[in-house]
Amino acid sequence: MPGKYKIVVVPGDGIGREVVPEAVKALKACEEVVSGLNFEFIEFEAGAMYYLKNLKEEYPPELLPTCRESHGVLFGAVGWQDARWPDGTYAGAKLIFDLRFGLDLYANVRPCKLYPNVPTPIKKGPEHVDMVIIRENTEDLYQGIGGRLNRGGTSELAIDVRILTRKGCERVIKYAFELARFREKGAPMDGKKRVTCIDKSNVLKACVFWREIFNEIAEKYPDIERDYAYIDAWTQWAVRRPEWYNVCVVSNMFGDIITDLAAAIQGGLGLAPSLQVGDQLAMAEPVHGSAPKYYGKKVTNPMACILSAMWLMKYFHQRYGDKAAAEAAARIEAAVVEVLTERKVLTYDLGGSAHTDEVGDEIAKKIKTVQVSV
Ligand code: NAI
Ligand code: MG
Repeated sequence: MPGKYKIVVVPGDGIGREVVPEAVKALKACEEVVSGLNFEFIEFEAGAMYYLKNLKEEYPPELLPTCRESHGVLFGAVGWQDARWPDGTYAGAKLIFDLRFGLDLYANVRPCKLYPNVPTPIKKGPEHVDMVIIRENTEDLYQGIGGRLNRGGTSELAIDVRILTRKGCERVIKYAFELARFREKGAPMDGKKRVTCIDKSNVLKACVFWREIFNEIAEKYPDIERDYAYIDAWTQWAVRRPEWYNVCVVSNMFGDIITDLAAAIQGGLGLAPSLQVGDQLAMAEPVHGSAPKYYGKKVTNPMACILSAMWLMKYFHQRYGDKAAAEAAARIEAAVVEVLTERKVLTYDLGGSAHTDEVGDEIAKKIKTVQVSV
């Protein structure tokens, strides 16, 4: 277990620069009250705003090597108005992909938990929604293999190739089973530890391959219930019966789509956290982007970013068996729940008028006083 966790902090662009400091504040509050928990934060400027300053690169060359030597990364968001490379691509995307692929962060962990007093478009309450979706993060349609056929000045055909590899499927499915085993609670409906395999194996060959590998891995986890859902059916069940789901595992493209549905179910982007996990380290990152129109006003919700930092602590607990990290995660979550329950200090998306840093201060204060048992 590391005596001190080295955490690389990359606020990025826009509101990333406003929410990330609040997550750092929450971690520092934990450090103050949890014995044996120590952090070293190393901050980098990077992203589209950084690119606009030098017009050569989106991040300093030391960023990736420093990340490789760290235990975790805390990332905000990228994207800034019209910042583009000369070829027209948006500045900031390269940073995201270089981190994801360069650090081989293959499991995109997207928790979907409904907290008290959070408005949701579905007819279910917090006792019904507590699942984690694991999205494969390095292959599928996002490898950029494909092209267009142009003839006589007209584009006639376009192809994107979907790639699934044994290695890519095995490791992310294994991660899903490990997480199901590690999590204390099973599905809200019956308490069962369950991993749902989401695919379209009734039609697509790559999905048959995915399901075969799922079954192979599942053999090694007899204590975890196996479950299957076709992607289209899953979307309606997630809305009608979310309490059935505990851990779900899904390939990249499908995962991209259904995790936005999950973000809506849990109350929107202000509350949707994520964690990208590799074999060496993990990167915490709110699901939302840089929301440029809100930048500078300090009105957006820092909870998504703070909950992402909470998931980084859960990861440290799982990876290193560190009880101090477990306590930090429990304190952060309990503090967020208290702030939501009291309804006194909330940002606009939850019907309040507090500023980003006021919510961050309130959560940090509660982290130090809240009672938790771990
Ligand atoms: P966005 O997520 O930045 O914002 C969309 C809307 O969601 C906002 O206008 C706001 O109403 C709400 N919202 C987002 N975060 C919130 C928060 N913390 N609290 C309360 N409300 C919040 O998505 P948008 O506007 O499509 O993209 C803006 C920029 O961010 C673009 O440059 C885009 O490329 C980039 N982006 C970056 C991502 C990343 O860094 N991973 C992910 C998504 C978008
Ligand atoms: Mg998306």
